[in-house]
Amino acid sequence: MTKPIRIAPSILSADFATLGAEIQKIDRAGADWIHIDVMDGHFVPNLTLGAEVIKSLRKTTALPFDVHLMIEAPERSLAQYAEAGANRIGVHVETCPHLHRTVQQIHGLGKKACVVLNPATPAHAVEPVLADVDQILVMSVNPGFGGQKFIQSVLPKVRQLRQWIDERGLDVELEIDGGVNRETIAEAARAGVNVFVAGNAVFREPDYAVAIAELRKLAENA
Ligand code: DX5
Ligand code: ZN
Repeated sequence: MTKPIRIAPSILSADFATLGAEIQKIDRAGADWIHIDVMDGHFVPNLTLGAEVIKSLRKTTALPFDVHLMIEAPERSLAQYAEAGANRIGVHVETCPHLHRTVQQIHGLGKKACVVLNPATPAHAVEPVLADVDQILVMSVNPGFGGQKFIQSVLPKVRQLRQWIDERGLDVELEIDGGVNRETIAEAARAGVNVFVAGNAVFREPDYAVAIAELRKLAENA
């Protein structure tokens, strides 16, 4: 089941002083989803924003909010993110001892459930819940910061996940996050990714529309 190529700019690389305007800019520039990185300063060594900010940003666009929770014990605050306007909620497998229950909890809130794997976490960690999720996010950097280098060794894991999804005919979006740019996107697409998070590769470019269009073209032609 091949899903459409989607480009999800990560607002972590945007100017936080003008976040609302930046989101409207990437909306007009052709983004498919808005990727929002929530970091707690514990699970990852950085602190970003939370549900209150997401709630305010919700007013700026109708595009889906793809909320990537890099927080410990995410099950405690899922309802807040759902109420704030997240459409898709991603939890790290490394933070969820009761992963199946957490996925059900996200669905119970009426949201799409995504499970995220760090670079050192194998595909097998999500295999038991693959049929229960809407999305798998493979980290291609160690989470915490934008602008890091793409870790090539995650690609076999992407291929394995793509194979399972296709063999089982599952309706799952396969996403990658970290170091995605004009040099790395085609290889990730060939490995089976259909959703591409891009921070610096969009927000550090002079023209967001050109940056998004170029990334999309490279992924589509890969
Ligand atoms: C990293 C975040 C990413 C990051 C991507 O922890 O999850 O979404 O912002 O930024 P780039 O594309 O610049 O690596
Ligand atoms: Zn992210």
